[in-house]
Amino acid sequence: MEYLKIIGGNSLQGDVTLHGAKNSALPILCATILIKGKSVIHNCPNLSDVKSTIEILESLGCEIERQGDTVTVDAQNITSSKIDEGIMRTMRSSILFLGSLVSRTGSASIFLPGGCDIGARPVDMHLKALKSLGADICESGSSITCTASRLNGAKIILPFASVGATENIIIASAISKGRTTIINPAREPEISDLAEFLNKCGAKIYGAGESTIEIEGVDYLNPCEHRIIPDRILASTYMSACAITGGEIVIKDVRPTHLAPIFPVFNEMGCRLYLNNNQLKISAPKRLKRVKMIKTMPFPAFPTDSQSLVTATLCVAKGTSIIKENIFENRFRFVGQLNRFGADVEIDEQMAVINGVKTLHGANVNATDLRGGAALVVAGLCAQGVSTINSIEHIDRGYERLEEKLSALGADIKRIVYEEDSKEANKKS
Ligand code: UD1
Repeated sequence: MEYLKIIGGNSLQGDVTLHGAKNSALPILCATILIKGKSVIHNCPNLSDVKSTIEILESLGCEIERQGDTVTVDAQNITSSKIDEGIMRTMRSSILFLGSLVSRTGSASIFLPGGCDIGARPVDMHLKALKSLGADICESGSSITCTASRLNGAKIILPFASVGATENIIIASAISKGRTTIINPAREPEISDLAEFLNKCGAKIYGAGESTIEIEGVDYLNPCEHRIIPDRILASTYMSACAITGGEIVIKDVRPTHLAPIFPVFNEMGCRLYLNNNQLKISAPKRLKRVKMIKTMPFPAFPTDSQSLVTATLCVAKGTSIIKENIFENRFRFVGQLNRFGADVEIDEQMAVINGVKTLHGANVNATDLRGGAALVVAGLCAQGVSTINSIEHIDRGYERLEEKLSALGADIKRIVYEEDSKEANKKS
């Protein structure tokens, strides 16, 4: 078991480069099983969720090679269409294998997915969409079986712009008969990245990132090489870490259009932002200003994944800020832990009222989910004294050695292995 130890108070300075986006890497890796041959995926982050996805691919018969941040998936031979319950439950995105497996093999046998405990997170839209494409779906307890001899194009209207459901439909219908239209798809940059990858392989997907997506089904896809887009939520994590510590950093390899929804919030806090091609310099004031109101919504509005990070940042702003969470009902679960730092955040259903305090103090806290865990790290960076962040396996799902990147920016943060810790204590006693 490991935890993070932070001695807060250092303001962040220097340059940092983003790794590839987790939320792009996962669907793209799931989609590789559509392709008979070797898909070469560059800028693939080394995260525990990526490892779990690779484990699933291997269990289905794929051969995987990893060299640095390049992952090669050879899906020439798929030998199974079943995924074990244990691995399914490690992450929500495993539901995307439903679409890719049924399209490739004609059947998929999986279990309800797990992932961060940030809300009910049903999969009804995924299942209804696959039924519209002609799949037979049988649910029994937590197991789901999906069969189809060949998927047929259909018009699918999503009642909510679900990221996962949009991805599942794109993946399932890339190889199909006829035309699929998705009305009200999610427009997140990761959707466009998935479509770009599949189009390079020969798919005919039009309108990704817009309000309607059209997919002209093809008979087969060819292998290709693809580079995953940089992680915009990682960028927003560094921005929060810089803002809360009154720092000045340069974030390299950003896509400004992906970050456009969060720029106004940091401007309102009093941070100055300078864009130079794909580099973003953020310079924070001594004391941040409050932000009147932030509402999380699907892209191109403020992302729910950045909400926890900004909530933590605003704890030390001057004045009261309000955040309304519209996507996941349990996304404020981490706030109980945040208040242990001396923050003053009240939750009223889906609304957080953040009464800014002058300083935070060190605390011993538990990460409750991925982004909530990263938010606790952000709080620890500015808290006076020592903080320990436990249950960091949540953080490792989406950040590649976050502590090393933050240390390089001047933070005093270390990953401690419990065993080493107790050996240390034994030596002293
Ligand atoms: C993805 C992201 C996650 C991000 C979220 C919203 C990945 C791996 N994860 O999650 O980081 O926070 O988008 O931007 O890309 N819903 C239903 N029925 C469904 C599907 C979704 O009711 O069948 C609801 C969910 O409970 C939630 C909302 O729709 O309230 C949005 O969920 P969705 O966009 O599907 O999120 P994910 O794909 O799970």
